[in-house]
Amino acid sequence: MVLKVADRGKMPPFIVMDVMQAASLRESKGGDVLHLEVGQPSTKAPSKVIAAAKTALENDKLGYTPALGLLKLRADIAKHYKDWYDVDVPLERIVATKGSSAAFILSFMAAFDPGDRVVMASPGYPAYRNILKSLGITPISILTELKHRFQPTVALLEELGQPIDGLIIASPSNPAGTMIGYQQMQELSNYCKKKEIRLISDEIYHGVNYEQKPVSALETHPESLVINSFSKYFSMTGWRLGWMIVPEDLARSVECLAQNMFISPPTLSQIAASAAFDSYEEAEDNVKRYAINRSILMNELPSSGLDKLAPADGAFYIYADIAHFTNDSAGFCKRMLEEVGVACTPGLDFDPDRGDSTLRLSFSGAEHDVIDACKRIKAWLKK
Ligand SMILES: Cc1ncc(COP(=O)(O)O)c(C=O)c1O
Repeated sequence: MVLKVADRGKMPPFIVMDVMQAASLRESKGGDVLHLEVGQPSTKAPSKVIAAAKTALENDKLGYTPALGLLKLRADIAKHYKDWYDVDVPLERIVATKGSSAAFILSFMAAFDPGDRVVMASPGYPAYRNILKSLGITPISILTELKHRFQPTVALLEELGQPIDGLIIASPSNPAGTMIGYQQMQELSNYCKKKEIRLISDEIYHGVNYEQKPVSALETHPESLVINSFSKYFSMTGWRLGWMIVPEDLARSVECLAQNMFISPPTLSQIAASAAFDSYEEAEDNVKRYAINRSILMNELPSSGLDKLAPADGAFYIYADIAHFTNDSAGFCKRMLEEVGVACTPGLDFDPDRGDSTLRLSFSGAEHDVIDACKRIKAWLKK
């Protein structure tokens, strides 16, 4: 008997997971690995979050919550937008989600129909196009380059020469770490308003920025759909909690979708996450550590020959052009792991068209690992 396997389930793998698997195999055989592949903080959640979770475990029933999340948490998120961006967001537009990953599913389903066309920058976070595709929505990649700072521009959107229904932006971006400044955000916002394009802004790396403050799409486009998460800035990846700010016209659809698909986001995480908004100092200490790692890589990599690097305004990644070394980034990463124990992610995850000659290095780990990795990469590439 041969049963059908649905086409929409046939998603490409997330290659970084394969690299992590190879790295842990090496570790299980006693080999050492410097982890520059993983896109997550190496730190725990803020101490006040952990304390709040312990108290909730002892004292709370931890039943379901409303599908949109606990009112207290949503009020704390509203305050965060007032404090950080001077934007007023009514509670009805704030939705707690099971990580930003669930927010993608909810927002794409609420905003787009099968056959709609949604644009995003390539290189970019692969889940956007893979989730869109599985929902029957057509992802359209704009092949951005260093001269565009790997971000979409109005000129690039115009060049598409075809009507589109949605635009997904990410600032700071994964893998390039580049940011969209106020003027560019305003231009993209105005273009989307004029052309009636739904603007979705992934702001998960806000707070993890170095020289400039990030701009929220809500500052220039109050009707945009903004997605964020506790995973990165607050160092809470495994707590699986994110949020979105939805425009009024999508609020009820999102609520009904969330009720049916997830019932509610994780209750323990929701209670504890309120304390994240009292933990900015701890989060900033992590950002200071990333900043040190970033400058080590930016200073050291060029002398190894890795000298074509995206500027990394934010997030904790360096995106490197390695075309002068290889056009097989997966093989390059495999050899680097096998020969010197440094794990990095081939660019193919982020740019299926050109990622065979790019590489992403994550600097969210320990400083001594980053220093050691630079030494090993230098020696390896000099061989
Ligand atoms: C750009 C971007 N958006 C979203 C996510 C998903 O994050 P989470 O589901 O943990 O909120 C990631 C994870 O690496 C990411 O890099």
